[in-house]
Order: sequence, then C-alpha cells, then structure tokens
Amino acid sequence: MDIPWWRDAVVYEIYVRSFADASGDGVGDLAGVWERLPYLRWLGVDAIWLTPFYPSPMADGGYDVADYRGVDPLFGTLADFEALVAGAHEHGLKVIVDIVPNHSSAAHPWFQAALRGEGRDRYIFRDTFNNWQSTFGGPAWTQTPDGQYYLHLFAPDQPDFNWRNPEVHREFLDILRFWLDRGVDGFRIDVAMGLYKAEGLPNVGDQSFMSVSPVWGQPEVHDVYRDWRRLLDAYPGERMAVGEVWTDSPEDLARYVRPDELHQSFNFAWLEAPWSPTAFREVIDDTLATVPFATWVLSNHDVVRHRTRYETADPGTGLARARAALLMMLALPGSAYLYQGEELGLPEVTDLPAEARQDPVFFQSQRTLPGRDGCRVPIPWTVDPPSHGFSPGGVEPWLPQPATFAELSVEKQEGDTDSTLEFYRQALARRRDLAESIPYTLEWLDSPEGALFFTRGPLTCAINCGPRPVELPAHDAVLLSSGPLKRGLLPPDAAVWLRHDS
Ligand code: GLC
Repeated sequence: MDIPWWRDAVVYEIYVRSFADASGDGVGDLAGVWERLPYLRWLGVDAIWLTPFYPSPMADGGYDVADYRGVDPLFGTLADFEALVAGAHEHGLKVIVDIVPNHSSAAHPWFQAALRGEGRDRYIFRDTFNNWQSTFGGPAWTQTPDGQYYLHLFAPDQPDFNWRNPEVHREFLDILRFWLDRGVDGFRIDVAMGLYKAEGLPNVGDQSFMSVSPVWGQPEVHDVYRDWRRLLDAYPGERMAVGEVWTDSPEDLARYVRPDELHQSFNFAWLEAPWSPTAFREVIDDTLATVPFATWVLSNHDVVRHRTRYETADPGTGLARARAALLMMLALPGSAYLYQGEELGLPEVTDLPAEARQDPVFFQSQRTLPGRDGCRVPIPWTVDPPSHGFSPGGVEPWLPQPATFAELSVEKQEGDTDSTLEFYRQALARRRDLAESIPYTLEWLDSPEGALFFTRGPLTCAINCGPRPVELPAHDAVLLSSGPLKRGLLPPDAAVWLRHDS
C-alpha cells in the first residue's frame, strides 16, 4: 500500500505572530518563516502548519478573519506567502494552512452588510437569545443597535456563520480552492465540530457530555467535510485536512476521520492525559482501536506548554517529563504535531504583566483567567535581548520574553548534545531512519509498575512514569534516551528507544 505523506508526518505548528519577525515591527511574519526554513529542515520535521495570517483586526490573534483570500500587512503579502510555499517545498516541507469556518471577524464585509440589514442569514441573528455562553467567557450573544442579537461562540468580534445557508458552503469551497490553487498541501480546520448548531437553538441543559450538546458536534457537519474531501481529492498530490475537534470520546473523534471525511483530527486526549502510565496506555489503546489514522499532540497555541503542565514541586521534573513524553509520542503509530518552541523546552510564561496581555480570554473573564498569551511568547533565536533574535535590531517583541529565554535560545542549544533542541533533532532523525522498518501496529510488553514498554518491529520504547528506576526491556542497542540511563536502569521521568534485532 502507498502510505500517504501525512500518515506518519511530524507537523510543526508555527504561530506566525511569534515565530520570527523579518519586517522589524515586533510581530512575526511570513518572510520570517521563510528565513527560518533551513532551521526547520535541519530540525527534521516533515510539514509546517501556519496559524491564520489573513487580514484581521486581531481580536483573537487572527482567528477573526476579515478576508479569507488575503494576507494581513502585519504578516506580509500574498507574494510572501507564495514565496514561502515555494521555499518550503524546495526544502521538502509540506504546508498546512489554518481555515476558520465557524466564524468570521466582525469586520468581514458580510458581517458589516449584515449589520446594515443585508444578508443577515449568513450569520445567526435572533430577536431573543438563549443561555449559551461564549467559550471565552460571558454570554454568546451580543445585541446590535437595531435590537437583534447575533451569536458568537467566541469573542463578540467573531460572529458565527449560519452553515444552514448554502451560500456559506459555496463561499468556503471557493476559499479552499483559492489556497489549493496556491499549492497548499492541507488545511487545519479551526473549531471543526462547531459549524452547525442544533435546530431551534435550544438552551444548554444540564448535559455534561459534548455529544448531547446543542452547541457542538451536530451531525450535519459531516456533510461539509464530505464535500471538502471530494474537493481535496480532485486536486493532484495528497491534499489533506486535519480537524480541531474537541470531543469527549475517541468514538466521536473517529466520526470525523473517515475515508470520505477528514484525514486526521487532533487527539487532544493525549494532551489532556495526566502523567500516569495507566492514563497514557488508555489513550493509546482507545485511539488505536477507534481512529483509523492516529495523531498525537502535547502542546499548541491554546494550552499551557507541556513542560509547565508536567512540572512538580521538584525542579527539573517538567523538562525531564516533557522530553520523555516526546520520545514516547514519536514512537507511536501515526502523525505527531509539535508546537514551536517545545524543541527548546520553553516553559509557559506565567508572569506576563496585565498590560502586555492580548488574549480575549483574559479580558472576557474579567481578568480572572490568564488566557493563552503565556504559550505565545516570541521564540528566542539568539542569546541577546531585547528580542533574542526574534526581531531585527533593537525592536521589542509584541509580548515580552523573560530573561530565562536567553539560556533556552536556539543559539545557546545548537551543537550542545545535551540540549533539548539537539535531543529533538536526534529523535526526529532516528524516527526518519526507522520509518521504513516499523509497522503501523504496536504491541505492549510486560513492564514493571509505573513503566510502559511497547514494541513496533525492531523498535522498543520504554517510559518510566514511576518514582523508582526500572530495568530496561530486552534489547540489542540503545538508540536514544531522553535523559542519562543510570547503571543501565531507566530512571524516573525518562524514556528510551531500544533496538532489538531478532
Ligand atoms: C481555535 C483556535 C483558537 C481560537 C479559537 C477561535 O480553538 O485554536 O486559538 O481562539 O479557535 O477561533
């Protein structure tokens, strides 16, 4: 069987605002990404996913799109985008772009027309509102000057489209064609389970499971992805789509990943699992049993960085666990999504000053929740402030970087074999070497308490989540470990890849 490129791909998420700034305005841009393509190639990823770079008032960092067929001047031009796609392809990297079909920006011409009373049926306007809450906090309805209310599951500046209107379908098929014609290899679909709302917009009851929610996961959404799949399949090359689908069960997730729907969906159960061998094993088993093409993800631009999530009172635990989790993730069948900066071991920045924060979550929660800015702090490329090589010259980045970023910079870690960056690079290189020889399936081996051992053909992966060192499973060679082995034992909070020849 021919294996499609995306099945085992390692995809690197680029939060464009925070990756690299070429223009010198303190905000990352497409030319900045282009300049760093050699770095991504050197790191050894297979594809990049670019977060939205479309014209936007930036009420939600660009997830409020005002024009789906352009590039915001903050991020560059369409020519910069075309140069980036061409450059990525020359470097052997596929390009996935983010598509935001649940809502537009309030500045989108359709919504502006709707406010004037034209084409309101493209959005969800009602004379009264229901009890739905915005994901970012507060009611999901905002009143317009003429008295009607419109629905926004996120910020008030992000009105939800009415997917029961066929014009919305036609528009998005056309938008997909626009980017497919410009050579993109795939789409990441924002809020993929949100497009349809239950008929009649009933109040949210006391249901605690998303599968019975009137807000999320309505069955009609699957026909949208069937249409999109037909379009993707009609293009040459293996164009793909990955859904941002938050669900309560792997069965529900699998409904999106079907031969006539999406190719992949993010597996957030993996990211949500606590540091526990039982929890990890359960997610792995459930995923492999139900989802035909598995994906794994530990961090993205919406969650606390996993180094910080795994931190305990014992300093150093977070990074040790983050490295071990990466090794386990890269040993699993399927595709892995990395988030920029995790290869540097960046922690969540928890002490951003209130005046620097930009995430609507912070404001809509009346400043009671920190929001997601802490995982979006610009990448440190070099040791020196003010921007650690993020912006040229003496420009300050759009979010302040903590002083600890100097030690974590690419410049500091490159060439240091013990660094997290070099560890990621080695893991990705070994994974590439093994790709041909390991089957898609996984077999569990007996393991001591607190540990997990599994094997895939010649590769065995062992992780120790427990408090005591454990004996390694049988092997012929040690390929890579997330930290030093001690007298041939696997210490706590560490993982190892082993080769066995028989
Ligand atoms: C997705 C994005 C997130 C954004 C939200 C609304 O969850 O990943 O960053 O705020 O959708 O578009």
